[in-house]
Amino acid sequence: MAATCSVLAVSFLLCFALFSAVSFAADPFVSYDFKVSYITASPLGVPQQVIAVNGQFPGPLLNATTNYNVVVNVFNHLDEPLLLTWPGIQMRRNSWQDGVLGTNCPIPPRWNFTYQFQVKDQIGSFFYSPSLNFQRASGGFGPIVINNRNIIPIPFPQPDGELIFIIGDWYTQDHKALRRILDSGKDLGMPDGVLINGKGPYKYNSSVPDGIDYLTFHVEPGKTYRIRVHNVGISTSLNFRIQNHNLLLVETEGHYTSQANFTDFDVHVGQSYSFLVTMDQNATSDYYIVASARFVNETVWQRVTGVAILHYSNSQGPVSGPLPVPKTDVSSPWSAMGQPKAIRQNTSASGARPNPQGSFHYGQINITNTYILRSLPPTTINGALRATLNGISFVNPSTPVRLADRNKVKGAYKLDFPEKPFNRPPRLDRSMINATYKGFIQVIFQNNDTKIQSFHVDGYSFFVVGMEFGIWSEDKKGSYNNWDAISRSTIEVYPGGWTAVLISLDNVGVWNIRVENLDRWYLGEETYMRITNPEEDGKTEMDPPDNVLYCGALENLQKEQHHSAATSSILDGHLKLMLMMFLASVFTFC
Ligand SMILES: *[C@@H]1O[C@H](CO)[C@@H](O)[C@H](O)[C@H]1NC(C)=O
Ligand SMILES: *[C@@H]1O[C@H](CO)[C@@H](O)[C@H](O)[C@H]1NC(C)=O
Ligand SMILES: *[C@@H]1O[C@H](CO)[C@@H](O)[C@H](O)[C@H]1NC(C)=O
Ligand SMILES: *[C@@H]1O[C@H](CO)[C@@H](O)[C@H](O)[C@H]1NC(C)=O
Ligand SMILES: *[C@@H]1O[C@H](CO)[C@@H](O)[C@H](O)[C@H]1NC(C)=O
Ligand SMILES: *[C@@H]1O[C@H](CO)[C@@H](O)[C@H](O)[C@H]1NC(C)=O
Ligand SMILES: *[C@@H]1O[C@H](CO)[C@@H](O)[C@H](O)[C@H]1NC(C)=O
Ligand SMILES: *[C@@H]1O[C@H](CO)[C@@H](O)[C@H](O)[C@H]1NC(C)=O
Ligand SMILES: *[C@@H]1O[C@H](CO)[C@@H](O)[C@H](O)[C@H]1NC(C)=O
Ligand SMILES: *[C@@H]1O[C@H](CO)[C@@H](O)[C@H](O)[C@H]1NC(C)=O
Repeated sequence: MAATCSVLAVSFLLCFALFSAVSFAADPFVSYDFKVSYITASPLGVPQQVIAVNGQFPGPLLNATTNYNVVVNVFNHLDEPLLLTWPGIQMRRNSWQDGVLGTNCPIPPRWNFTYQFQVKDQIGSFFYSPSLNFQRASGGFGPIVINNRNIIPIPFPQPDGELIFIIGDWYTQDHKALRRILDSGKDLGMPDGVLINGKGPYKYNSSVPDGIDYLTFHVEPGKTYRIRVHNVGISTSLNFRIQNHNLLLVETEGHYTSQANFTDFDVHVGQSYSFLVTMDQNATSDYYIVASARFVNETVWQRVTGVAILHYSNSQGPVSGPLPVPKTDVSSPWSAMGQPKAIRQNTSASGARPNPQGSFHYGQINITNTYILRSLPPTTINGALRATLNGISFVNPSTPVRLADRNKVKGAYKLDFPEKPFNRPPRLDRSMINATYKGFIQVIFQNNDTKIQSFHVDGYSFFVVGMEFGIWSEDKKGSYNNWDAISRSTIEVYPGGWTAVLISLDNVGVWNIRVENLDRWYLGEETYMRITNPEEDGKTEMDPPDNVLYCGALENLQKEQHHSAATSSILDGHLKLMLMMFLASVFTFC
């Protein structure tokens, strides 16, 4: 097997070398300025403060092509610290740009920070979003598209157009109010609705209030569109469907799938998909586009439904009548699981590289370590409501991990995250996984919580080899898909069930593993993998960027940013930050 692996590695390298000769010479740059600020909007008819990027809600498209260098200068015009994160973008050798608290100091209010990373060997559909303080519940998100290079054809005819759908559950209360609810130990309760591209539902019946601005998509008959769908919401899985139209699944989070038609598709929190949709109907009227709450009591959760309009240029009139219902059955949990299991990788399609996606024969590689990560329903720890993985509710280090390593700051974090759940009282801790560079690991997400959850790993995509109900055991390996499992970065895990993923640990750095359901994440259901090359030679990991922000134990290294008349609020921000960090360390030692 070692031989197989190295042959694989060599052929990858050769291929890479050949290609780099042609295309590496000057990987282009794309640059963006992102001004993140509050604006007032009324997506559900009630005015509220939302987080916009460059005045837009959702934020603008970040459009790049495989291997481009992306520069994003983020200006924090909020009244609290900010980090943007880029789930699914692999940031190769460069966890300095990941935008989560384990790897970056937060950008204080009124400061700016320029992210720079390469979208190396990637294609596909992703999104960016804030990672701190529950801010994603108020916005700050937007789509990312990484196009194929011209030399690598996409595995389907060039679509006639593209549409992006940013969907998610939504509350009329902002992230600060929602945070206060969680801090007081309560559940957020049912959302007030679902937004599609920042807009509320079309008034499909009298249950929808008047005067809500909804979205209309204009299309041409006979044309085929690529539709990218992202669930950026807080915690609700959404069933996406377009009345009378098939969704041909073609891509998920950076890999082309074996193409398959669906009438409706479950998009879980944090997930991204591309579908091809052909406008093959008669346009006797417009058509409904629906994103409705799933895996909840749908009778009770009716208001949690997003409705937009598909309008053909030759449409004969407005849409009417009841919404289409999902055809996929979730009344039996086993049949619901049929859909994620039908997502397979197209092993003969080329993705970011000319060699087919299936040429990495993951099923033949021996597993070096197994980590079972179990989530339980939130529980009270030291008097506060917290969520856990393997009994540990994560407390972020006040000094980012690799910055602490480089500057010899001791005790910022611990490498003692348990490889499997233990029967011991839950606790707050800074425990991380000490993962082995070049290892080939198996991670079992075991969901013993009461809700469906999605789990995400930064810096990597993983092979989704198994998903079942019950408790995972070693013998389940026999049922894994060792041939055409999809490679992606965010996967659902059913309550009372498990999902197994395989990860090849070739990307050094410190990488966040988290639940994407924002309430659970906020309450501490996350950890990190620290992966360092014992023979680090300055080539496997990048150095911190020149503009790296310092905080925690290294705060004295941080130079002030110069702004007109903003000094006092910078100080305020710093004080708040220090207070937060102090509280976090107090928690840790309780
Ligand atoms: C992989 O595992 C098999 C069976 O456990 C063993 O025979 C083989 O030597 C292993 N291969 C490597 C490269 O360790
Ligand atoms: C994205 O950028 C490419 C060029 O890199 C361009 O051809 C394409 O039209 C852009 N897409 C959008 C939606 O702006
Ligand atoms: C802040 O933005 C300015 C340009 O307005 C840029 O020159 C500077 O490098 C940015 N600061 C950081 C830390 O990225
Ligand atoms: C998917 O459905 C469309 C009709 O909407 C049909 O033309 C196409 O052949 C189907 N493709 C597959 C792979 O089933
Ligand atoms: C569209 O209209 C034509 C002619 O009126 C009819 O034959 C066909 O069945 C209709 N197709 C659909 C999908 O309604
Ligand atoms: C959903 O809620 C309604 C109203 O409370 C109740 O009558 C129904 O039994 C529930 N359905 C399920 C499947 O729990
Ligand atoms: C509105 O539509 C929903 C879903 O189609 C339906 O269940 C509900 O009964 C309708 N309500 C009214 C007041 O018509
Ligand atoms: C797989 O990709 C190839 C392109 O390499 C394409 O021709 C084929 O239709 C795809 N197959 C499926 C089932 O998606
Ligand atoms: C982490 O793992 C490496 C081996 O991969 C080991 O040498 C090191 O001691 C471990 N560190 C800790 C703190 O356990
Ligand atoms: C959680 O685990 C316990 C003990 O194994 C089991 O009885 C219970 O059904 C599980 N609940 C869920 C939702 O997985």
